[in-house]
Amino acid sequence: MKILVTGGAGFIGSNFIRHMLKSYPEYEVINLDLLTYAGNLENLSDLEDIPNYRFVKGDICDRGLLEGIGFDAIVHFAAESHVDRSILDSTPFLRTNVIGTQCLLDIARKRRCRMVHVSTDEVYGSIEKGSFHEESPLMPNSPYAASKASSDLIARSYHETHGLDVVITRCSNNYGPYQFPEKLIPLVIANAIRNKPVPVYGDGLNVRDWLFVGDHCRAVDIVLHKGRAGGVYNIGGKNEQKNIDIVRKLLMTVARKTGSSEGPFLGLITFVKDRPGHDRRYAIDPSKMEREFGWGPATGFDEGIEATVDWYLAHRAWWERIISGAYREYYQLQYGKKAD
Ligand code: NAD
Ligand code: TYD
Repeated sequence: MKILVTGGAGFIGSNFIRHMLKSYPEYEVINLDLLTYAGNLENLSDLEDIPNYRFVKGDICDRGLLEGIGFDAIVHFAAESHVDRSILDSTPFLRTNVIGTQCLLDIARKRRCRMVHVSTDEVYGSIEKGSFHEESPLMPNSPYAASKASSDLIARSYHETHGLDVVITRCSNNYGPYQFPEKLIPLVIANAIRNKPVPVYGDGLNVRDWLFVGDHCRAVDIVLHKGRAGGVYNIGGKNEQKNIDIVRKLLMTVARKTGSSEGPFLGLITFVKDRPGHDRRYAIDPSKMEREFGWGPATGFDEGIEATVDWYLAHRAWWERIISGAYREYYQLQYGKKAD
């Protein structure tokens, strides 16, 4: 099987490619990524010499480029993924998340191949009590979530209208190695290590459901092989946490692991103006994945946080190159061309 993974130089995509090449050494994996600010080929530097892995730098909106790539299935991660950026400018979100997904759906239709569309729990919007299931209405609130809901519905329509073999996954917040340090968990760890203020939006009582990235990759692998055409699958961590509790836990973990006292670390917490339209609580019911495939999160939150803090402590050079911007030079050094 030859799999086209889009957005493979990003956080989840790079973890997924590593998972697939390890689990299926006989598969071929093509990583199509535009290398936007969020794409970092260093995430995959250990795979460069593997003969059945290939990187193609390009845009999912480039239909000519897609025509020229051979594959049997698509796993589609590429996206503009950060809510705060979508508030500042939604243009790249509509372009990549909506139009880009449409281009992939069209090529999948032409090739009659399976496509896994990686969507998000944010398409359901906020919920006060209980949790969303796969048939719940989509009520996205941020431009990011609205662009993902749009692509999610277009994917669904290609199944209903054209009989396309597309499967949709809606996952909760991921965390783990290689996450870009603009997202809550890596940002808190990197700021704590550098003794910088840790911004907490609003009252810090917003709730997210957190899933270790390795558990997500395993779920997408299962859906790729066993998901029903036209099916939607919630992939949740059964692990709801208030932001402020996560921030405190991370700061105390960094303090312990660096042999420091907790007080000065906790003193870094800085409450800042809330994000506009900030969803209060995300919660999804992941029981369909459990019922149909026996999938469930295997990494407990304490274990996942320990592993994640260890990873960021051990890979300081990786995230410092991102913060300084030096990571943009990696592609040029490896491929002799500029990333932008
Ligand atoms: P990310 O921002 O870390 O990576 C996105 C990748 O897509 C980058 O490598 C970027 O260069 C690439 N990309 C962007 N525009 C492109 C384009 N036009 N053509 C080709 N490549 C392009 O994102 P992530 O956190 O790894 O998320 C991956 C997917 O999972 C996204 O679709 C996101 O919506 C979804 N998701 C993420 C989370 C999460 O917590 N991170 C949760 C649920 C769903
Ligand atoms: P984020 O990692 O951006 O994911 P999402 O908004 O897609 O859920 O943020 C997770 C939560 O943390 C969200 O409620 C916003 C909050 N947050 C902060 O309080 N401070 C920060 O600096 C960031 C980046 C997020």
